[in-house]
Parts: sequence; C-alpha cells; structure tokens
Amino acid sequence: MKAIVYERYGSPDVLQLKEVEKPAPLNDEILIKVHAAEATKADCELRSFNFAVKWFWLPLRIAMGLRKPKRQILGGYFAGEVESVGKDVSRFKRGDQVFGSTKLRMGAYGEYVCLPHSYTIVPKPNNLSFEEAAAVPLGGLNALHFLRKANIRNGEKILINGAGGSIGTFAVQIAKVMDAEVTAVDSTIKEEMLRRIGADYFFDYTKQKFTQSGETYDVIFDMVASSSYSECVNALKPKGRYLMANPRMSDMLRSVFTSMFTDKTVIFVFAGEKEEELLALKKMIEEGKLKSIVDKIYPLEQAAEAHRRVETEQRLGTIVISVGN
Ligand SMILES: NC(=O)c1ccc[n+]([C@@H]2O[C@H](COP(=O)([O-])OP(=O)(O)OC[C@H]3O[C@@H](n4cnc5c(N)ncnc54)[C@H](OP(=O)(O)O)[C@@H]3O)[C@@H](O)[C@H]2O)c1
Repeated sequence: MKAIVYERYGSPDVLQLKEVEKPAPLNDEILIKVHAAEATKADCELRSFNFAVKWFWLPLRIAMGLRKPKRQILGGYFAGEVESVGKDVSRFKRGDQVFGSTKLRMGAYGEYVCLPHSYTIVPKPNNLSFEEAAAVPLGGLNALHFLRKANIRNGEKILINGAGGSIGTFAVQIAKVMDAEVTAVDSTIKEEMLRRIGADYFFDYTKQKFTQSGETYDVIFDMVASSSYSECVNALKPKGRYLMANPRMSDMLRSVFTSMFTDKTVIFVFAGEKEEELLALKKMIEEGKLKSIVDKIYPLEQAAEAHRRVETEQRLGTIVISVGN
C-alpha cells in the first residue's frame, strides 16, 4: 500500500511517499481503508519534534523513538471504511463508514490502518464527506472535553484564545451550543471565519492583548502556550475557570495554588478522547449544530505541502489529506 513515511525527525521534506506492507488485523483489530486524515499541529510537532511546551519532550522522545521515529507513519485522526475485521470483533463489519482516533499508534497517512476495535471509532456522520469527517475528532474531542469540564451556564462569557485553530473552531461552535457569549482571539485573517461560525466578539492578538482590555470572563479556554498565566487568571470573573490546553510545567504547579487559595479553578486535564464524546459530536453535526471547517484538502503525495500550510498558520480551519482517491 502507499503511505507517507518519515524515517527521521525534521522539516516537512522528511515526509516521503513510499510503498509499504499492507497491515493485517489481529483477532481484536479492524482493518480500515483510510479515505482522509487531518494534518494536525500535533502531527507537525511530532514530525519536527519541536513543541511549544517543552516539559514532555524527553518522555515523549523516549516513547516515540530516541534517534528516529519508531512509528514511521503519522496521522492520528481519520475517516474511512472498514475493510475487514479480526475474528473476535463483532462491533464492526466490512463496509462500515467510520471516523475516529488512532491514538499514539498513528498511521492514518497510509491507505490502510489496523486498530483495536476498542479505540474511539464510531460511524461517520451521514451528512459529512470523508474529508470533512476526518477534520472533526482532534478539534471536536478536545474542545468538548475542556468545555464540559468548565460546566458552562446559560449566558456566561467565554474567551477562546487561539480560536482559529483545529480545537478553537470547534470550541467556538460548542460554546455557542452551550449558550455562552463567545469572544474569539486570533490573528486578523481569522476574524470573518470566526464570526461566521458564531463568535460574538473578536480580539486581534497582533494588535491588542485581550488581558489589557479590562474585560473579565467566566471561562478562558487557552490554546496558546505563551500566554501569561497571571494575566489570564486576573482576567477571570469571581468563580471563573481557566482551561489550559497547552500548559507549561510552571503553570501547572501554579494552578494548584490558584485552585486551593482562590475561588477560581484551573483545569488542564488531557482529553481522554472517549467514544461517548465522539458520538455526541456526531449527533451535534447531524442535527446541524456543528460544522467541520476545512481550509484545504491535499492528495496523499502532497503531505509535505499540507504540513507547510499547517505551520504557516495562514489557514482558515483544518487541513486534510485525502488518501486513496
Ligand atoms: N491538551 C491537549 O490534550 C491537547 C490536544 C491536542 C493539541 N494540543 C495542543 O494545543 C495547541 C492548539 O492545538 P490546535 O490543533 O488547535 O492548534 P492550531 O490549529 O495550530 O491553532 C492554534 C491557533 O492559535 C493561534 N495563535 C497563535 N499564537 C497566538 C496568540 N499569541 N494569541 C492568540 N492566538 C494565537 C494560531 O493562529 P496564528 O499562528 O495564525 O496567529 C492558530 O489559529 C497545539 O499546540 C497542540 O499541540 C493539546
């Protein structure tokens, strides 16, 4: 089968189209014919091994391969079709159209991937193409996970910092479903798109710091690793919640004191990417409450171009790699 392989860490040029062996499912696995995979910021970070937050560099490097990547096909989120199933699998059958997460196995940048049937894999929303569906799990699962933890009440004010990215575009829409008043923060080119998907207010971070506006919020959902922890906590109303998707070690330590000694709460628990959450997203999509925002679709052989577009951040929404079409 064809796959995009990376044999060393580095620039997008390390992504090479190769012929590799087609995987075969074990008894508890399903073989999926991949139709599309999201090219995520996390894929780019794993490829270059350059992260905005540094504390997990060493443990992750040990897990992923010290000198070169152990798993050489990237791709954590996909949509596709079940090709065959192992003998212990009854949940899926050949021909099922599915979408989901490959977790740290990755492998969705190839024509086929084998995954345990217990992974977060559910039927694809019936009103989305494979490309649109592949753009949902990363952003949708992370946004839903954090926003549920914030326990948002009707009419509360939420600020989403880094709103124009994969997680942010879902966070804006899900916060609106939760009846919050949404302020989105990102760069100039994202304003029109963010207002179109529901943002009530917009801050251009290249022109003004939202923490200097004097406004306060019930919830701040922060995707940006370089944010000032104290400025964000100070921009919360009493009983406010600060959700950190990209926490630095020092901020995680400070958060213990904030949660213990003030009436504010800081949350940074990593998303579990649960099946129930993906089914909830599918339902919202089929009810027309949530949309997949795709900026551009690249064919498999242009995976390096797809990564370049993710990294230059000129995109309005997600970047998808179309596989096997
Ligand atoms: N906690 C978790 O479980 C978890 C899970 C997945 C991902 N993550 C991490 O969370 C981060 C966000 O993920 P993502 O996939 O949504 O990334 P993304 O798609 O790259 O989105 C980040 C957005 O933030 C904007 N931005 C950059 N600097 C900013 C600033 N100073 N102020 C406001 N906005 C700014 C970017 O736009 P411009 O660069 O164009 O300005 C971009 O639109 C990534 O670093 C990822 O590794 C965490």
